[in-house]
Amino acid sequence: MKSEIPISSLFELLLSHVEEGVHIVDHRGVTLYYNKAASRIEGLSPSEVVGRPVLEVFPSLTEEESTIYKVLKTGEPIYEKLQTFTNYKGKKITTINSTVPVKVGDRVVGAIEISRDVTSVKSMSERIADLEALLYGQTEVKAAQKGLGRCTLDDIVGESRAIVELKKLAKKVAGSSAPVLVWGETGTGKELFVRAIHGESPRKEGPFIPQDCAALPGSLLENVLFGTVSGSFAGAQDRPGLFELAHGGTLFLDEIEAMPPELQAKLLRVLQDGVIRRVGDTKDHMVDVRIIVSCSEDPVKAVERKKLREDLFYRINVVTLRIPPLRERKEDIPLLVDHFVKKFSAKEVKISKKVREIFMEYPWPGNVRELEHAIEGALLVMEGDEIKPEHLPLQIKAHFSPKKGTIVSHERLKLNEALETVEAELIKKAIRETDGNITKAAKLLGIPRQTLQYKLKKLREEDLPGIN
Ligand SMILES: Nc1ncnc2c1ncn2[C@@H]1O[C@H](COP(=O)(O)OP(=O)(O)OP(=O)(O)O)[C@@H](O)[C@H]1O
Ligand SMILES: [Mg+2]
Repeated sequence: MKSEIPISSLFELLLSHVEEGVHIVDHRGVTLYYNKAASRIEGLSPSEVVGRPVLEVFPSLTEEESTIYKVLKTGEPIYEKLQTFTNYKGKKITTINSTVPVKVGDRVVGAIEISRDVTSVKSMSERIADLEALLYGQTEVKAAQKGLGRCTLDDIVGESRAIVELKKLAKKVAGSSAPVLVWGETGTGKELFVRAIHGESPRKEGPFIPQDCAALPGSLLENVLFGTVSGSFAGAQDRPGLFELAHGGTLFLDEIEAMPPELQAKLLRVLQDGVIRRVGDTKDHMVDVRIIVSCSEDPVKAVERKKLREDLFYRINVVTLRIPPLRERKEDIPLLVDHFVKKFSAKEVKISKKVREIFMEYPWPGNVRELEHAIEGALLVMEGDEIKPEHLPLQIKAHFSPKKGTIVSHERLKLNEALETVEAELIKKAIRETDGNITKAAKLLGIPRQTLQYKLKKLREEDLPGIN
C-alpha cells in the first residue's frame, strides 16, 4: 500500500528536528533550504536566508573562505572544517562543517553544508589552556617558595663522594648546551640538580620550564610541548608550546619514561634538527632550547622495558647524572638535617641523640624529601627546643617498632594478635607508599578515612615505646 505521507515532507520534518545545522544552496550559492538548527546556530531566520546568495547574508565571509563556495567551485567535498565567524547579531560562532557537492552527472548543481556548533567546546578548551598556563605559573611560584626558584650548585647540600663528584660533573656540563639525563629514586634531588645546572649555565637569564611528562595524557602533552595552530583540531588556537616558550633557556622533561613512544620520536627529531613544528602547522620554528630529562629508574632498564626509546636514549645519554639514594650516602644526613632545621626554624633547635641515631639507621625510601618533611613536621609538633623520637612521622617510628616484621616471624602469636600485626604492617606500608597522605592511604586500604585515622591513633600510642 502506498504511504499517504509524501517523502519530501518526511525529510523536511526530519531536518527540522536534527541538532546539526543544514544549509542547502543551488549552483549559484543561493539558499534553497535552511533548517531550524542552522537558524539557531547562526542567529538568522530562514526567511532572511532562503532565496539569497550566501555571501550577501554572511558579509564577514569571502568567496575564498566560504566552504560552500569552495565546494561549488571544485566539486570536492570538505569534511570537518573548523570555521569561526561573526553572525548578524555580532556573536562569534565556531562551527565544524562538512560540505558536500550535489551533482547531476559531472555537473555541480548545488551543495549541502552540515554544521555543528562547537562554540562552547572551543571556549572550554581555551579555558583549559589558560588554566594550564596559570597552573604552570603557579608551579613556578611553588618552586620559588620551596627555594627552588633560581638555584646554583651551592644550594646542593652534601659532602659525600658521590655528591662532590656529581657537583663537579654538573659544573662542567653547565657550560654547554648538550642534553643531560638525570636519574635516581624519588626525592633524591634530581630537580634540584637540573635547576642548578640551568642556574650555573650561560642560559641562566633565560626561562627554566619544567614539565612532568606523567602529568598529562599523550595528545595533550604533545599540544603543550609543541603548541598548536588554529584549525588543527576542533577549538585549536595559535598557541606556542613549551619548546618555544623555553627559547634561550632550559626545558626540563621530568619522568621522560612516561612520555608515549611516538612523542619520544618527535622529541628526538627536535634534538637532532633544532626545529619544532606546532601541531597542525606546515612551517618549522627554530628553537634554541637546552633539553634536560629525568628518569625515575635506571634508563637502561627503562629501555629494556620499552618505556624509553632506545634511539632517544642514545641521543640524551651524552651526560648522565645518577643521584644515589640517601641510604647510600649516609654521611650527608647530618648536614642535611642541619640545613633543613635552619630552613624551617628561625630559633636554635637541638636534636636528641636518639633521633640522630634513628636518622642514620632509617633507610629513607623517600630520600631527601622524606628527611626534609620529617624535620619540617617535627618542628611543627614539638613543644620545647629539642626534636625527640615522638616528634617523628609515623612511618619512621613504625620502622623501629618492636612489632616490625611480618606474620612469618610471629608464628607464636595468637590469631587476633597476628591479625593486628598484619593490619599494622599493611597500614604502615600504605602510609609509606602515599608519603603520609591519609586520604590516599585510606583509599589504598579500601577503608574510610575516619577508620584509618582511628587505627593510626591506636598504633601511634602503641608504637611510641618501641623507639624510646
Ligand atoms: N642535596 C640536597 N641538598 C638540599 N636539598 C635537597 C637535596 N636533595 C634534595 N633536596 C630537597 O629535597 C626535595 C626533593 O628534591 P627534588 O624535588 O629535587 O627531588 P626529585 O629527585 O626530583 O624527586 P621526584 O623524583 O619525586 O620528583 C626538594 O625540596 C629539594 O630541595
Ligand atoms: Mg622531581
